[in-house]
Amino acid sequence: MTVRINPSILSADFVNMQRDLERIGTADLVHVDVMDNHFVPNLTFGPQMVRRIQEVSPIPLDVHLMISDADRWAPGYAEIGAYSVTFHVEAAADAVATARAIRDRGARAGIAVKPGTPVEGYLDLLPEFDQVLVMTVEPGFGGQSFMAQTMPKLRALRQVVEADGLDVWLQVDGGIAVDTIGIAAEAGADTFVAGSSVYGADDVERAIAELRAAAAA
Ligand code: DX5
Ligand code: ZN
Repeated sequence: MTVRINPSILSADFVNMQRDLERIGTADLVHVDVMDNHFVPNLTFGPQMVRRIQEVSPIPLDVHLMISDADRWAPGYAEIGAYSVTFHVEAAADAVATARAIRDRGARAGIAVKPGTPVEGYLDLLPEFDQVLVMTVEPGFGGQSFMAQTMPKLRALRQVVEADGLDVWLQVDGGIAVDTIGIAAEAGADTFVAGSSVYGADDVERAIAELRAAAAA
């Protein structure tokens, strides 16, 4: 199975963003957390910053919207040129329509679920999406502990993806490090967001390589 490692720039130095983007050239995509202090109790940046990140990043953007009113905002991030745009189902009035609007603008469409949100209602809709993000912490902050109790959702998603022959990436976000990535990979994840375990390392490229190896083991 293809393993993707997507470092999260939530753990980067915001004042040296271009430098920190250039440090992760061996990663697959750069994970860009947009927060509005409404859907989550934290605030990062919006379209203006993401547009500049898109312009200078050596690798494509995996945008994770932790914002209310996702239907309204998500298509704009696809227009900026993000490779993927993921929004929370808890924040969308019509997840399928929003996914279609993202795809119409040339980006991969993703849905995200918080740890307490079930996925059963979305299993029949998987062909509408290109990726599903199972949050393995409560969204809002980096550096939290991995929640293994979310793994049954990954197993359920992986089962449908395989049974129906779908090309849908299964992503995890939160608490991913060398000692947890294997748990998520075994449960069915193929795409791994890692913030503090990458940017907190002395050797960022080595941290990415170690995560990649641990996911494949
Ligand atoms: C948290 C964000 C994550 C965050 C993960 O809500 O969605 O992308 O950067 O950070 P770590 O890897 O440190 O748990
Ligand atoms: Zn994220």
